[in-house]
Amino acid sequence: MGNKKVLRFEGKEADVSWDGRLCIHMEECWRDKSDLFELGRRPFGQPDLVSVDHILEVAQRCPSGAIVFLPHGDVQSETADLENTVRVAPDGPLYFTGELDIDGAEDDMGGVVFRAALCRCGLSKNKPFCDGSHSEGGFKDTGAVGQTGQQNNDNGGLLTVTAAKDGPLLINGNFTIHSGAGRATWSGTKAALCRCGQSKNKPFCDGSHREAGFTSDD
Ligand code: FES
Repeated sequence: MGNKKVLRFEGKEADVSWDGRLCIHMEECWRDKSDLFELGRRPFGQPDLVSVDHILEVAQRCPSGAIVFLPHGDVQSETADLENTVRVAPDGPLYFTGELDIDGAEDDMGGVVFRAALCRCGLSKNKPFCDGSHSEGGFKDTGAVGQTGQQNNDNGGLLTVTAAKDGPLLINGNFTIHSGAGRATWSGTKAALCRCGQSKNKPFCDGSHREAGFTSDD
């Protein structure tokens, strides 16, 4: 992950931080119409210019977990969504939300216990996280999901994501998969999701990583 920075902006009731190790420039922070973040301003983040509720809301908009809400004292901390979801972004990563335990996350990555963008094209230099390389690499996939899973009713609780060496993301726990078009299509408790970009059955792994010689450690 090199020396990508983490910036922390201090406020009276809550701080907010931006994690350069996770940011994939989805622009949810600075496109927010409040004064919390402003491009070109120093400091970029000024939490005392907005309410603590708004800081939390903007953090929750960030799909990679790069923006983190850091409350002080009695201010309510963020809690995980009651449902775990994985959205298959067209030509992009897998967006996870819920109560997450992601293999490969550093202890100080506070945002990725709630949301994360994980690579499914195989090109990221920051696996298991997406680093935006799918764009430059020309990764193409609509995000269609052709299976329904068990269709369980309970989609909450801890979701663990294990990055198999040179293989798929192994997901365990209750969760729903949403297609690139937004349809909630699959639900179940266990899946192996492609992260080499080569599966003919995306977003699921079909074993193509072996033939493709996918290596997860680069
Ligand atoms: S999906 Fe974004 S770098 Fe692979």
